[in-house]
Amino acid sequence: MADRSPFNPNFGKVPRLFLDRENIIDDYIDELTNSGDHIDTPYQTTMIYGVRGSGKTSMLTDIINRVKQLDDWIVVDLLNNRSIIDNLIESIQMQSKLNLSKLIQKINDIKIKNFEIKLNSQNTHQMQLLLGIFEKLSQQGKKVLITIDEVSSTPEMRDLAMMYQLLIRQNFGIAMIMTGLPENVSELKHNKVLTFLLRSSQLELSFLQGRSIEDAFRTNFEKGSRQISDSTAVKLTQMTKGYAYAFQLLGYLIWKKTNPGDSIDEKVIDQVIDDYQQKLFDNAYALIYQKLTAVDKQFLKAMAQNNTDEVKLAFIADQTGKPSNYWSTYRKRLVRSQIIKNGSYGFVSFKLPFFKEFLLEEESFEKYDF
Ligand SMILES: Nc1ncnc2c1ncn2[C@@H]1O[C@H](COP(=O)(O)OP(=O)(O)O)[C@@H](O)[C@H]1O
Ligand SMILES: [Mg+2]
Repeated sequence: MADRSPFNPNFGKVPRLFLDRENIIDDYIDELTNSGDHIDTPYQTTMIYGVRGSGKTSMLTDIINRVKQLDDWIVVDLLNNRSIIDNLIESIQMQSKLNLSKLIQKINDIKIKNFEIKLNSQNTHQMQLLLGIFEKLSQQGKKVLITIDEVSSTPEMRDLAMMYQLLIRQNFGIAMIMTGLPENVSELKHNKVLTFLLRSSQLELSFLQGRSIEDAFRTNFEKGSRQISDSTAVKLTQMTKGYAYAFQLLGYLIWKKTNPGDSIDEKVIDQVIDDYQQKLFDNAYALIYQKLTAVDKQFLKAMAQNNTDEVKLAFIADQTGKPSNYWSTYRKRLVRSQIIKNGSYGFVSFKLPFFKEFLLEEESFEKYDF
């Protein structure tokens, strides 16, 4: 029998061990499906945000799979690229089997009401087409859920947001769910058109619960005929800090290092820890770090100099020569980015596992810029 790992540290698929998201997804689907023809719910437009590796794509994918099974919903999964509107039109048309050429013949009769939004001629054509399509869909009792993974502020996204807004104003059955990195979310906030997308529900994706991770480690290693003591299960759980990618990665590495019949102990942990850290650094933290501003980096590097996990804000002030109130907006942003968290009063700590070690390694590389 193949000793197949239940853990999978690949990005962008719903993992076999998918923890802690059932309630939030149930709530979302309930709201969506019980919101009437005009999708009367704050979840009509929803944005899920969280750090890279927190599980946004997995959650979105699970939602897509579930809504696709509903008879009266059409799901359109869009990529944020040049032809986003054409792809939207094409996908609805394919799924609803509407006769577009008939619609196009009638298109000039479709007037766009509420026209304070400026559309160019290509957009006007697309908008008329969409209005025609949605008219037909509402006659058929069909609604559309648009999904977009990792939105950012692009001209195409602005076009889509404008048209989406117009369709909502015409009371058509349309909803949208997006994911974004925290920095993308603030980018959207500063754009006049895109900020509309944020006036709705913003859901911060929480880290996984220690309890769920511990259970998952124990049950799955036992299923794979590996013995694991309570204290080792706790140790492994602590090493993930609830970070979704870390959970899959650590489980995967331990699984590969062991065979059925083995027991998982400190020795096994020692054998994988370097690889574990290196993969966290290379596949997640390098990208997270690259997107930070120089000032954010300065704050984090100062934090990394501290000896204990909880870092006093006064220590950072001391290290950087800048007072705590100077740091307060940066600190808030880093908390929102899920890189650090607030501790007891006047303290912060790293939220991501081994991020301190990552920063120290970065720093030692930066000494030599050749
Ligand atoms: N709820 C979850 N439980 C367990 N593992 C998860 C969960 N959500 C995501 N993962 C795993 O975490 C990693 C990152 O997930 P992904 O959805 O690609 O993150 P993001 O899109 O936020 O960068 C993947 O290996 C995925 O399998
Ligand atoms: Mg993703």
